[in-house]
Amino acid sequence: MTLDERPAKFADETEVRVSELMLPHHANAHGNVHGGEMLKLVDSLAYVCAARFCGGLCVTAAVDRVDFHEPIFVGELLTLVARVVYAGRTSMDVEIEVFAEDIPSGRVRKTNSCHLTLVHLEDGRPAPVPRLVCRTPEDRLRYAQARLRREVVRHQRAERERLREMLEGMSDEEAERLLRDEGFGELRTQLLHRSET
Ligand SMILES: CC(C)(COP(=O)(O)OP(=O)(O)OC[C@H]1O[C@@H](n2cnc3c(N)ncnc32)[C@H](O)[C@@H]1OP(=O)(O)O)[C@@H](O)C(=O)NCCC(=O)NCCS
Repeated sequence: MTLDERPAKFADETEVRVSELMLPHHANAHGNVHGGEMLKLVDSLAYVCAARFCGGLCVTAAVDRVDFHEPIFVGELLTLVARVVYAGRTSMDVEIEVFAEDIPSGRVRKTNSCHLTLVHLEDGRPAPVPRLVCRTPEDRLRYAQARLRREVVRHQRAERERLREMLEGMSDEEAERLLRDEGFGELRTQLLHRSET
């Protein structure tokens, strides 16, 4: 089957939501909702969204950066909204938005958003996913953003690998200089040049 012959699914039909009341057992030592509790919900919902889309099993390959801009409080209703925003050959980019509702006032805050990459597996190996068809301007924008994000992540991964090689090749003297914060810019240029040649 070629990539174009794969079955198609509409992006605007991939949305999945879940709501959960935040209770004391979700709290951290400060009494607010533990970040890990939220991440568990994020990962579970991303799985549901991706598994429905590909009609099979999948695993999380990566979680994009997650920033915690504001706390979520015990007693709030957490609602997560997931949608597939990009589909590659075997992987899917799932966007998750997180909203916290103060139930008595009905005030809703968007507290987070993040992206996860999930890979469809068959017999333990990556397997093709349906084509994603974007028919609304919002979905087309999300698709374009996801493609761009993929490029940036690929670039960052290559840079990290180069940095790792650079650091492993550092002499004790160079490490000492770094620790003393001496000539950091110059050292970085030297090391980069060394790993390029
Ligand atoms: C995810 C996994 C199946 C990828 O296997 P792999 O042999 O590297 O597969 P491939 O190189 O063929 O990549 C398959 C797809 O995944 C994508 N992918 C693989 N690793 C990725 C990563 N770290 N970030 C983003 N995408 C990734 C590839 O780009 C490719 O996408 P495409 O087919 O749409 O172009 C494998 O690394 C794995 O099983 N990881 C553990 C998953 C897991 O246990 N998750 C739960 C953690 S608690």
